[in-house]
Amino acid sequence: MRWKLTTTAGVLAAFLAGCDRPSPQDAQLSGEELSEVLKLSPLPTPPPSPTNTFADDPGAARLGQSLFYNAHLSSNGEISCATCHNPGHGFSDAKPLAEGLKTTRRHSQALWNMAYQRWYFWDGRTDSLWAQSLQPLQSPDEMGATPEHALSVVAGDRTLKTAYEELFGPLPPAGEPLDRFLTNLGKTFEAYQRQLISTNSRFDQFVSRIRGGEPRESAGLSETERRGLKLFVGRGRCILCHSGPNLSDGEFHNIGLPKHPDLRRDSGRFEGVRLVKKDPFNGFGEFSDDRGPDTNIKLRYLIVKLNNMAEFKTPSLRHVAETAPYMHDGRFATLRDVINHYSELKDEPPLGHREETLLPLNLPKREKDDLEAFLKTLTGEPLEESLLESP
Ligand code: HEC
Ligand code: HEC
Repeated sequence: MRWKLTTTAGVLAAFLAGCDRPSPQDAQLSGEELSEVLKLSPLPTPPPSPTNTFADDPGAARLGQSLFYNAHLSSNGEISCATCHNPGHGFSDAKPLAEGLKTTRRHSQALWNMAYQRWYFWDGRTDSLWAQSLQPLQSPDEMGATPEHALSVVAGDRTLKTAYEELFGPLPPAGEPLDRFLTNLGKTFEAYQRQLISTNSRFDQFVSRIRGGEPRESAGLSETERRGLKLFVGRGRCILCHSGPNLSDGEFHNIGLPKHPDLRRDSGRFEGVRLVKKDPFNGFGEFSDDRGPDTNIKLRYLIVKLNNMAEFKTPSLRHVAETAPYMHDGRFATLRDVINHYSELKDEPPLGHREETLLPLNLPKREKDDLEAFLKTLTGEPLEESLLESP
């Protein structure tokens, strides 16, 4: 009798272990999943930026690059854009909340593939990359520059002054309004950042090989990575929001993060909509190089909705393995923490409500490993060294 019991237990244990052991079929993509995978790569050439005539001007990009790495622009001379957007950390930083002159209330966003986005900041409170940069430059928590200080830095550096005047004409004389001058700097920041594009990740290589007819098994992703990909486009439904080749729909969602222990509740996109509509530097404003209704159609039809409460912008997942910690408040230290969140979704958000399409996935450990392995295939090639420091 005793013998029989242990055997049964043994068989049962072996059976259960077998259930969790993946079979090669678990990595097979269905036809529908395959067509979703093909939509995720390659990245097309970036869309134009009609509100900035200098967006693709090489001289503007070079000046923007010098300014991006220039700490003199900050009021204490110690903080540059690169302090919080460190090229060695996927253009983000390792701190949960960004620290400039003071600690800010959000995590520094990674700057990969900015050219493909439509709204900027976690709450989308600006509608262009050039208008975005005017905020950290002047924010008392970040770089704290007054317009006069920014002008004195450019005027006092022969190389910067020449580069500026070649593009935009003479620097404004003392006492003149400086909005146009600041906007011009913003337009160079955009031109530089438009070059920070992620290319040729292992995932892109995989998609390119299967497009070329290679069997998926030998197209460069391991079985666990392919199982993760299948989960990403299939049952995990990550592509509802992390869609398209930038792995972001560029829109805003509430993914049900519970209350942060130390931070005030953050209304996210709800406030962001109000702010972008009244921003004097938006696409309809006098500093925009194309104020046409078609160019600014998204802005035109934007309305303040209660539904936007505590929604944040879907981040691109390209290079995501390099940019920990995660989320708008940097609450998750690792990709595994993020995956655990989507697996459990156990708390109610303190504001708004979790998007109804998002349901707990209840993933076993093995599937968490798979998903994490897949996310790590999204890191592209390093950029040219010459782009990663002051030129
Ligand atoms: C003190 C740290 C800090 C500094 C300095 C800083 N940033 Fe940021 N950056 C952040 C944080 C934090 C966010 C997100 C803020 C938010 O959503 O409210 C952000 C957001 C951005 C975004 C939006 C990204 C997206 O996906 O929407 C861009 C672009 C950007 N910064 C560029 C710059 C540029 C250019 C400079 C220099 C002029 C700069 N930043 C200086 C911390 C910083
Ligand atoms: C309903 C839309 C939606 C779905 C579905 C979704 N995400 Fe997200 N994801 C977001 C948003 C929005 C954020 C940022 C939330 C925040 O900071 O408040 C985010 C953040 C992330 C981050 C952190 C990135 C960073 O840079 O901080 C990762 C990683 C991630 N998601 C992976 C996934 C995976 C894997 C799945 C599928 C299991 C998934 N997401 C499903 C919308 C979604």
